[in-house]
Parts: sequence; structure tokens; C-alpha cells
Amino acid sequence: MSDNIESTLTETRHFAPSAEFTENARLKPADLEALHQKAEADYEGFWCDLAREKIDWQTEFTQGLDESKAPHYQWFADGRMNVSYNCIDRHLEVRGNKTAIVFEAENGDTRHLTYRDLYNEVGKLANALKGMGVVKGDRVIIYMPMNAEAVIAMQACARIGAIHSVVFGGFSADALRDRVVDSGSKVVITADGGERGGKVVGLKANVDKALDSNPGDVEKVVVCKRAGNDVTMHADRDVWWEDAVDGESVDCEPEWVEAEHPLFLLYTSGSTGKPKGIQHSSAGYLLGAIVTNEWVFDLQGDDVYWCTADVGWITGHTYVAYGPLAVGATQVVYEGTPTVPDAGRWWKMCQDHGVTVFYTAPTAIRALMKAGPDLPKQYDLSKLRLLGTVGEPINPEAWMWYYTTVGEERCPIVDTWWQTETGANMIAPIPGATTLVPGSCTQALPGIAADVVDEDGKSLGADEGGYLVIKKPWPHMLRTVWGDDQRYKDTYWPKFGGKYYLAGDSARRDSEGNFWIMGRIDDVLNVSGHRMGTMEVESALVAHKAVAEAAVVGRPHDVKGEAIVAFVILQGDRLTGDEAEEMVKELRNWVADQIGPIAKPDDIRFADGLPKTRSGKIMRRLLRSIAKGEEITSDTSTLENEAVIPQLQGKA
Ligand code: WT7
Repeated sequence: MSDNIESTLTETRHFAPSAEFTENARLKPADLEALHQKAEADYEGFWCDLAREKIDWQTEFTQGLDESKAPHYQWFADGRMNVSYNCIDRHLEVRGNKTAIVFEAENGDTRHLTYRDLYNEVGKLANALKGMGVVKGDRVIIYMPMNAEAVIAMQACARIGAIHSVVFGGFSADALRDRVVDSGSKVVITADGGERGGKVVGLKANVDKALDSNPGDVEKVVVCKRAGNDVTMHADRDVWWEDAVDGESVDCEPEWVEAEHPLFLLYTSGSTGKPKGIQHSSAGYLLGAIVTNEWVFDLQGDDVYWCTADVGWITGHTYVAYGPLAVGATQVVYEGTPTVPDAGRWWKMCQDHGVTVFYTAPTAIRALMKAGPDLPKQYDLSKLRLLGTVGEPINPEAWMWYYTTVGEERCPIVDTWWQTETGANMIAPIPGATTLVPGSCTQALPGIAADVVDEDGKSLGADEGGYLVIKKPWPHMLRTVWGDDQRYKDTYWPKFGGKYYLAGDSARRDSEGNFWIMGRIDDVLNVSGHRMGTMEVESALVAHKAVAEAAVVGRPHDVKGEAIVAFVILQGDRLTGDEAEEMVKELRNWVADQIGPIAKPDDIRFADGLPKTRSGKIMRRLLRSIAKGEEITSDTSTLENEAVIPQLQGKA
């Protein structure tokens, strides 16, 4: 185990749910206790009962958990259903005219879509995709701004059994090409452009760049008209969304798929190699999305929910595109930056749309706290009743601001630990039942066997740091890494006899049993709540012709969580002065082109060499200390090239 797992955080403040909140909550302490007891007593039966209760099946399942292909676990395998049917059709009779999505653009334009509208739009696009020859199991890339059409595109794929893979609109053409190729996608759904901070991002232009050498198998590109920027349409390949759906029927019979049919792939970073296509199932995944939206977000009939995540991340899948719709909620979708026209934009939107449940990331909370600590007070936030966070541990200072200034000391905060791979919240408070402790994601949800263990898989005692594991398969877990079963096994089941899911985080539990996440155990950065492999950024850097070698580490950053620091060895002589500054600019833009702006190193330093042991291993721990500006106290004499240390420190 690495040595960075000691936690200095000793938080003692406790916040029990108010009697009023508990009174109106879906789950009261006794309900939560009953769920835990049931999961303890009959684990498989617990999940099967929920699957029968929460999902509308076309063919009921008779099998619960199937372990015969472990660690490729299967759930409800002989049942058939359709995710889009469960998110839309089943609501039509009772709440067809209820608003499903309130969409607001950065310029303030607002549009309401009811469940009936959603049915119509999804049906038309689904029929159009079928007309293009897309059949069950085909892959479709969705590269869109954060608008209602992105959700419609995902639902349309689900409706016909096509497997979507959403690529975050902030990713570059190169990153898009990798995902197009790895997934073997047949269709790309995109927009002319997206608007952020008043600027137009040329999404279609990136698609053209990604596809110009005809990599992979893309036959059609569907282009949604959004920003109105000029685009080049390629005859035969490209079609405007509005032309594609023109004349299509709104009715599209759902494709009834097996429970295990892949609903989507979502690429995520690991410590080594290229991004992994995390593959999720249909029924098990949907079940996780439903129960967590009910248990953790307490979504009820008249709630207005707003999860600020982009559909390019898992949070935008489970808590925007699927979960809230499956439970029949009204939700807000916003395309734009939180600081236009100022850092009060989100609070104004909460007021204007009467948001009751709000879910965002610590990095956003910190940024808005810095930019406008008193701005929430300018708006009427009295409808808010529950707040959530995800992506990284939230520091107590940000927690307290969120609680006091945004939530007016009335709203519980659910700090939700989970991952792209886990599909839905895993460790999180139940707002009407759990006592909150700032900085802790508190307790595992019912039916989730989370624990902290040592190298041998033995459960650790109070406040002992170790590996965070999940000891039993759960319905919404990933099924594999797309096209690479071996990587799935090697990454998630390498220890403990292959019996426990290894999350890759270190954690401890305190004497009350609350979980505290302490960080990653691998070389994965967490920048603004998003995982990024150090390897990916290093590969991007060395792909530049001037770069010979690069090492990338994270450094704590008060808004982004972690900042990226790159140590670069150039071909030829080390640069200094203006030349160095120019090169830094060039490399930052280069990385943005290769991966996307979020991967731009914050700090690039040049040296004649990297600190290596005599056996040639890069000393990352030393680089991390240097990046933080810490004094180097450890003995560096075993280093092959001690002289580079002052260069790396920026002192020579
Ligand atoms: C990693 C997963 C799940 C959606 C967002 C990120 C970190 C996530 C928390 C939390 C402490 C957290 C972990 C995890 N993380 N939520 N509440 N407290 N750390 O998804 O990109 O798959 O990253 O984010 O390190 O392993 P992701």
C-alpha cells in the first residue's frame, strides 16, 4: 500500500436529519434498517424483489444472480425489457403531460419537454436510426453539447437496442477518433457546435477531423442544428437531424432486449494504456439508477431535480439521462458555464425553476464559493430541500458553505461515492435517516457489500487505511471492458483470489462505521472530479516531436482538486527563458488537441532528465513532492542523476 493513505482529517461535527425532513422522506430510519436486514438475510432475493417491483418487464426473469462466468456476473439474465420503455412509455398514462426536461441554454432560452414530447422525439430519432440500418447491438457514438437532444439520442439508442457511447463534448478530435475505432461505431450523432462561455465549440468540425482518414466503420453522421455555426456536410455520410427525422413516425416499438444486453459503453481512464470502454447492462444498470434516485435523492412526485453533470460522464447517464426519467421526475438540463453572466447563474436557475434537489461536484462548489460567496443569498432558494456531491472527497470548508449558504442549514447533503464502473451510488447517506459528517460519504447503501481490507483481504479496524472493496456482485456493476475481458479481470479482480471488486481507492472507516475516501491507489489524477490517467497525458506529450520523455503527477489544487504538473525532457537542449515559455504554451495546446482542454498541464517544467532509480524506474513519489514544492528530505543519492532535482524544482 502506498504511504499516502494517512488521513489528517478529524471531523467531529455531526448533522442529524431534521424531524421534518425525515417525516416527508421516502425512507425513514426504520425503512432503511429493514432494507439492510433484508439484504443481509437474503442478498439475491433482496435484489430480485426490487427488480420485479421497480422495472416493467416484457418477459419476467426467473434467474437472479448467475456466477457461472465470474467475474463476469449476470443478473436477471432470462428476463427481457427495454430501458427507454421504462423511462418514457410507462409514464404516459399517468404523467404524459408532466414536464420531463426543462432545458435552459446559456443565453437564457428555455424549453419544456413533457414525457409525451420525449416519447415523440425519441420515437422519431429511433425510427430514423433504424432507417440508417442501425440494429440491436450496433454501436453509436454521441458527441453532443449538454442539451435535451443528447438525452433524446441516448434514449433513442436504448429504444432500438443500439449501444451508445457518449464522448464528452470537451474531448478533442483525437480522443473521439480513438473511441470511434475502439467501439466500432457505425453512426455518430453530433451537433454543429456547442456554446460555452459565449464561445462556439465546433463539434461537427471535430467529427470531420476524427473521421477524415476513414478510421473504423462509421457510415452516417447525424448533425443536430444547435449553435448555427458553419459546417461542411459530406454527401452520403452526413445528414441533418431534422431531415433525418422528417416524416418519421413518433411510434417506435421498443426492442425487447435481454437484461444483460449492453446499454452503453463509457470510456474512462485507467493508470495504464488507452481508456477503457466500461460496459454496462440494461436491467441491472437501470435498477441501480432507479433505487439510488429514490433512496439517496429521495425523488418524489413534485420534485424538480437538477444534476449539473454533463452526459459525457457517468453521472450524466445515471442521474440525468436514465434515473430521473425512470422514476418520472422533472429535471433541469443546462447547456453552459456556471459563471455566465456571473457565479450566481446556477442559484438564479434554482430559483427560477424551483429546484428542490440539486446535485453537483465539489470542484464546482469550491469555484462558486470563491467567485461569489454571497451570491446564493441574492436568490430565493427556499424550495431547495436536498443537496448532493460527487467526484472527489469534499473538504469540510466547502461542505459547510454548501450547507449553510446554499442549503440554508435546512438541506441534508448527500456525499455520494461511486465510479463509472459501479453504475450508481454505492456509499452515500440516506437523507432522512443518516447522520452526516462533513467529508465522509458515510455508509454503504443496502445491498452493497463495501469494506476496507488489507493486502490479504482481511477487514480492517477503525481508522485503519486500506483498500476499498465491494465483496459481493451487485446488479449495476460493469460487466466487462469492451473487447478486453482480460483487462477487466486484471484491473478490477487482481487480488483477494478474484473474489472482491477492487475499486482502486484507499479508504478508512471511523469508529462509527463511516467511510472516508483517502485517494486513488494508482497513478490516476482527479482533476475537477474527473479521472485522468497520468499515462494518457504523458503519451500525449511524448507524441510531440520536440519531446523526448515526460512524467506527469498531480498536485493539490484548491478548486480543481488536483492540478496537472508535467516534467518534460526535450529532444536536444533544455530550453530556458522566452523559448521555454513558448514551448510551454505550445505543449499545453498540444495536449488540449490530443485529449481535450481538461487535460492541459497547469505547470510544465523542463529538465535534462527525470529522477530515476539505478534500475531505471521514475521516482514518482519524489516528483509528487517536487510538484508540491515540498522540501526534499529523503536521500536522493541513490538517484542516477541527482543533478536534475534543482531543475525540476525550477531552481536551476
Ligand atoms: C473516482 C471515480 C462517479 C461519478 C464521478 C466520477 C472519486 C467519486 C467520490 C466521493 C470521494 C470520490 C473516487 C472514485 N470519487 N465520488 N463522493 N468522495 N471520492 O466518476 O470518473 O469514474 O471516478 O472518483 O476516487 O474512484 P469516475
